[in-house]
Amino acid sequence: MKKAACLVIAFGSLLSLLAYGQSATASQSLDDRVREFLASQKDQWREENVTEADGRFLYDIILKHGYTRALEIGTSTGHSGIWQAWALSKTGGSLITVEIEEFRHLLAVRNFKASGLDGTIDARLADAHELVEELPGPFDFVFIDADKNWTLNYFKALLPKLAPGGCFAVHNVSSLGYMKGIRDFLDYVRSLDFIETTIDTSASGGISLSFRKKI
Ligand SMILES: C[S@@+](CC[C@H](N)C(=O)[O-])C[C@H]1O[C@@H](n2cnc3c(N)ncnc32)[C@H](O)[C@@H]1O
Repeated sequence: MKKAACLVIAFGSLLSLLAYGQSATASQSLDDRVREFLASQKDQWREENVTEADGRFLYDIILKHGYTRALEIGTSTGHSGIWQAWALSKTGGSLITVEIEEFRHLLAVRNFKASGLDGTIDARLADAHELVEELPGPFDFVFIDADKNWTLNYFKALLPKLAPGGCFAVHNVSSLGYMKGIRDFLDYVRSLDFIETTIDTSASGGISLSFRKKI
């Protein structure tokens, strides 16, 4: 993206955040604060962010399974991260989220703070190809929403760090199912007898959920 366009987007997002910041009060409960923040930003998620329905889907799955150690690849400006961190704030967990583009990472950090969820989120500015090798884990929820042709590599690097009962989720596997990276990932993961994979099509572009069996 051109630098000028990035600046315009960043400035617009900043103005909307500042406007929101003036109305947020310290006495609000976390739920109220997150709800209000999400409502204030409803039409502001323009950086390849997930839809509200997909955010809710991530929230529900984390709560349903009581996950506490989450990793997201592809923060962008933080929409999906906020939904995951909101659920993790209820399970007593936390989220590590990774973004390679600095201007998106910086906007995400502002959004996390404004939502009140910054204490639950460790936002990293890094190339996830390298960082996934370094992160110790274990993780019980992994959400891949970045360079889809690298999905199988992410899976292979993170599989040893995926806790029993944990879930490795990939966004848009149906809408991007034509990509070799997605096809190779789905073929590989389906060949493993200790992993159970389904694709949830209630999510807009299809989200694959690969659960590591507890055995
Ligand atoms: C679809 S967007 C993520 C949207 C985000 N999950 C949300 O809903 O707000 C994909 C993001 O992945 C980032 N990305 C791509 N390759 C990456 C890499 N190797 N490491 C870290 N982030 C990467 C892109 O810069 C982009 O911001």
